[in-house]
Formats: sequence, C-alpha cells, structure tokens
Amino acid sequence: MSVYTEQCGITVRTVKQMKQRGEKIACLTAYDATFAAVLDAAGMDVILVGDSLGMVIQGHQTTVPVTVDDMIYHAKAVARGARRALRIVDMPFMSYVDSAHAMANAARLMQEGGAQMVKLEGGETQVEIVRQLDAHGIPVCAHLGLQPQSIHKLGGYRVQGRDEPGAKMMLDAASALEAAGAELLVLECIPAALAAQITMNTSIPVIGIGAGVSCDGQVLVLHDILGISLDKAPRFTRNFLTGATGIPDAIEQYARAVKDKRFPSAEHSF
Ligand code: KIV
Repeated sequence: MSVYTEQCGITVRTVKQMKQRGEKIACLTAYDATFAAVLDAAGMDVILVGDSLGMVIQGHQTTVPVTVDDMIYHAKAVARGARRALRIVDMPFMSYVDSAHAMANAARLMQEGGAQMVKLEGGETQVEIVRQLDAHGIPVCAHLGLQPQSIHKLGGYRVQGRDEPGAKMMLDAASALEAAGAELLVLECIPAALAAQITMNTSIPVIGIGAGVSCDGQVLVLHDILGISLDKAPRFTRNFLTGATGIPDAIEQYARAVKDKRFPSAEHSF
C-alpha cells in the first residue's frame, strides 16, 4: 500500500464539501460494532461515539462518570463495524482540563480507539486547547449550547442561548473556536434562529441536536430514535422505529429525513 493511499469513506474534507454544496450531513451515535455497521450501511455520514453512553449503555444519570477508558472500549468496537462513516469520539468529563491532558487523552482516543476526530464541550475557555490539538494534527469538533458534562452546574437540561447576552456569547465562541482550528461544531438545544445564524456565520459544518433544520446536519442519540431510552425522550427527538419495518429501516429513514430536510420539523425545534 502506498503511503499516499486515499483514506476511503467520509473524511473531514468530505463533510466540509457537503456544507459547501448545501448537502445535509446525517449523524447518529453508536457504541458497538453491530450498530456501527448498520449505521454505515444506512448511509450515515458521521458516527458519534458519544459520552451519552454513560446513560444509554451504562445506566448512569449523567455523562459525568464516563472515563477515557470507557470511551476507548466503545470507540474500538465502533471502528471495527464502521467502514465508511467519519468516526467522532467524545472526550469525557475532565479529560481536557488543560492542553497537556487534552493532547494525551485525544492521542489515546485516536491511537487506541481509532477516533478520526475528537469532540469536546465548551466555548471561549476551550480555544487554547482546540488550538493545541489542531496544531498537533488532531481534528476537533467543538460543542456549544447545552453542555451535558456541566449538568451539575446548569442544574438541568434546558434550552441555552435564549437571551441576547447568551446568544452573543455563543456566536462569539463559535467564531473563536473556528479560528482556533475546530473543524466541526455541534450545537445542542438552542433556539433554531440562533443556530441558523451561527451556521451562516461559520464556514465549518454545524451539526444540530435540538437546534432546528437550518444546521448543516443533524445528530441524535441512537436509543432515542429507536424509542428505547430509559427516560422520557427529549422533545427534539423522534421515534423512527414507529412505522418502520425494523431497526435498519428506522435508521435509514432517519438518515433520509435529515438529508431531505424533513427532520427536524418545528415540533422538534425551539
Ligand atoms: O454524547 C452524545 O451523544 C452527544 C450528542 C448528544 C451530541 O454529545
């Protein structure tokens, strides 16, 4: 094999081109090899090994107990199942408290877990960490809006950026993270109008969850679209298994609904 053999499947470059072409990016979480293969076959562009595994796999109340070793275990399994989709792996709580920790843990997620990109939560405070990761060849997905790792500080899962100072802070943070080298941005649980503004202002792809249809793509938690979450599903999700012929069909319908801009509708947005 040549050292210049093209990486097959979706790359960071591919998703950037999709944004430029106005083609929606479909993303779903997965935590094991079988589901990763099903998502791949369904045409999912991006698979997120989310730290939501703390809730849906491990049965915790929050993502806070999830460790780097947990993420590596699940990322490895997903890497064995997925051939085409771009694989993003979450950096868990406190694994990126400073640049040194961030680089050491991101390196483990990539070398041991096969991550092709890492995701971290937070705004302006993460700018220097993003800069360092980017400078060392680590693709970064930033995450603004509702940040579940800060749940004990937030005191609940609520829509973020509803007031003007909050919205401005998010707009500024998105620009700063992009300038620092972030190559993708997740917006969670924010007003659709604000998400649309951020998506227009940034040249990197923006993937929304509870952020309206104007984002460049959508992500949901796998268990939510299959209607098997342990808790009440959030308003921004939809059970795609209802009316589907089975799990692969439900996943394919989700990907198609995102691509065709049929999901999310107003009832799934704020
Ligand atoms: O952990 C996760 O699944 C996530 C998504 C909700 C974006 O971060």
